[in-house]
Amino acid sequence: MTEQTSQIFRTSQLEAADGPGLNPTETPTMGEIIAARFSRRGFLKGSMAATAISATVSPAAMLAARGAAAQTGGSAFDFAEVAAGVDADHHVAEGYDAQVLLRWGDPVFADAPAFDPLNQSEAAQERQFGYNNDFVGFVPIEGSSTHGMLVVNHEYTNEHLMFPGIVTVTQAADPGVAPDEETAEAGEETATEAELAPAEPAEPEVVVAPADAARAGVEMAAHGGTVIEIRREDGRWTPVLDGARNRRITAKTPMEVTGPAAGHARMQTAADPTGREVLGTINNCAGGVTPWGTYVMAEENFHGYFMGTLPEGHAETANYERYGVPGGSYEWGRFHDRFDLAKEPNEPNRFGWVVEVDVNDPASTPRKRTALGRFKHEGAESIVAPDGRVVFYLGDDERFDYVYKFVTEGTFDPENRDANMDLLDAGTLYVARFDADGNVAWLPLVHGEGPLTAENGFDSQADVLIETRRAADFMGATPMDRPEDIEPNGANGRVYVMLTNNTDRAQANAANPRIDNAFGHIVEIAEDGGDFAATTGTWEILVQCGDPSVAEVGATFSTETSADGWFGMPDNCAVDSDGRLWVSTDGNSPAATGRTDGLWAMDTEGAARGTSKLFYRVPIGAEMCGPCPTPDLATFFVAVQHPGDGGEDWEEFGRPSYYEDLSTRWPDFDEAMPVRPSVVAITRQGGGRIGG
Ligand code: FEO
Ligand code: CA
Ligand code: CA
Repeated sequence: MTEQTSQIFRTSQLEAADGPGLNPTETPTMGEIIAARFSRRGFLKGSMAATAISATVSPAAMLAARGAAAQTGGSAFDFAEVAAGVDADHHVAEGYDAQVLLRWGDPVFADAPAFDPLNQSEAAQERQFGYNNDFVGFVPIEGSSTHGMLVVNHEYTNEHLMFPGIVTVTQAADPGVAPDEETAEAGEETATEAELAPAEPAEPEVVVAPADAARAGVEMAAHGGTVIEIRREDGRWTPVLDGARNRRITAKTPMEVTGPAAGHARMQTAADPTGREVLGTINNCAGGVTPWGTYVMAEENFHGYFMGTLPEGHAETANYERYGVPGGSYEWGRFHDRFDLAKEPNEPNRFGWVVEVDVNDPASTPRKRTALGRFKHEGAESIVAPDGRVVFYLGDDERFDYVYKFVTEGTFDPENRDANMDLLDAGTLYVARFDADGNVAWLPLVHGEGPLTAENGFDSQADVLIETRRAADFMGATPMDRPEDIEPNGANGRVYVMLTNNTDRAQANAANPRIDNAFGHIVEIAEDGGDFAATTGTWEILVQCGDPSVAEVGATFSTETSADGWFGMPDNCAVDSDGRLWVSTDGNSPAATGRTDGLWAMDTEGAARGTSKLFYRVPIGAEMCGPCPTPDLATFFVAVQHPGDGGEDWEEFGRPSYYEDLSTRWPDFDEAMPVRPSVVAITRQGGGRIGG
């Protein structure tokens, strides 16, 4: 590789590649693109200006709105909202404690070295808590809500925040110097007034130095997941560092490929001619805990880890284009052949799966369960259907991609854990078509059925699964506005789909009704007969997000929702054991919404339906992941991901944030420590249920 520099790496680059998504079936015409660009410019300029005003200039109006919200009738939640805003710290609702439980670099084992940010090593990171915590799950030990296994995904790494001495920032041009000043002073020509006008200040350019093998090793060890025993005593949670089941999973951990695509020729590489043994898991975003107590990790933006060029005319060319491979966000391919397409052209087919981990056995080999399809898996939350089959809801996080569910062939045996351990290897993967009449159809992706035949390039179920997106295209699935987390609610038989945004949408459809959907929305599905395994159901939009006070935005929160209570960009969510919906966000910012990301409580029932309240908010630059309630609802674990990643649009900072000049040093606020992604345990002062 000759490229010697890489630009600063942001979650938005990885999660929402520039351009109109990768789904060719939704490609707009050039006329539509031009029309959309003009309308988008006008719309965004207007809406952002109005948003900024409403969030910063009218405290009286905000207070009035808060007062109104306090009288919300029928709400499932009773807490005093946090004020929306932006600063360097996190904030939780009054009467609650937010305890930082695990920070990047904290020990996962009793023998782990102390975190030393100036002397990081792969060996140390393999024994420490990884970077960018996303999914958080709790597996109770003997049914306890105060003792269990915490499972946490480490989605990706932010090199500019992690490593000292690797960022160069070019200085902005002096706005007082005109471009032709020298010429004018020399008297060679008379400069016009326009030529002497101040130059536009250049945006500071942030450049990250290329990785060496040692840094790449730390990055790979900071990915993956953590399994760690935790316990609550005297009100405080602590990691049990000598827990026998503690484990780090990384981008190098040996994994087994199982299910219909295992061993297929398209899964074979020079290093693994069996097509069944893969090293590592990457970009594990959300995930799930199965009814039998295993941890499932969803591989999301795997395309970003590949570099190089496929051999000319290679059979996987179209497949990789549909997934954006190679993304070129990391340089691991310079040190590991498997991430270089020229050397291992089949390797990308071995990522983009759901990985299952047995948390009871730290020596167990994680399994890539191919039956659940290959795409940019956001998460994998599950529920047991009335007949005992288990249903997993799956989002493919890309503009214009799809919502899926997987229904196991076998049934869950609550009395025999071992009997459930291979349930994920056989079943039916479905993709959703949301019809304008309010019906949803789940379309089976089964080889030989409908268009999924050899004539269309699918010679087996392995082909259908390796190219899940193309199979779903043929089935006529509904292109969505970036499907993120999806949660079933056993209390009311419904399913909540987070659709985070899609500013490239030029053509609306019924389930994605906003052109240039900057703030996202939530779709609610009611499966027929309350049966999560049903192949038909109905749907409606629970809420269109954004600032309800700006008519152009088209937000549909209830009128009881306060100026603090609305949000944009829903991402993760949880349904707690009382059937209440909690939504966490990724993308709120000073410029976009005048607030940081956070955790919002969202009413779904009765008169309060569509009312949202802010419970917790993150520091500048972070996104909010989790939440994960304990069964007794006395603790919510949340994950603060990539804090300090940004600050240009925050008036108190106003410049790029990187290791030596951070917009926040949360949670330590120690000049010797960088900002650290962390899992936080939220509890109620004096004990009791979270959220009232
Ligand atoms: Fe990693 Fe779709 O969020
Ligand atoms: Ca996410
Ligand atoms: Ca996200």
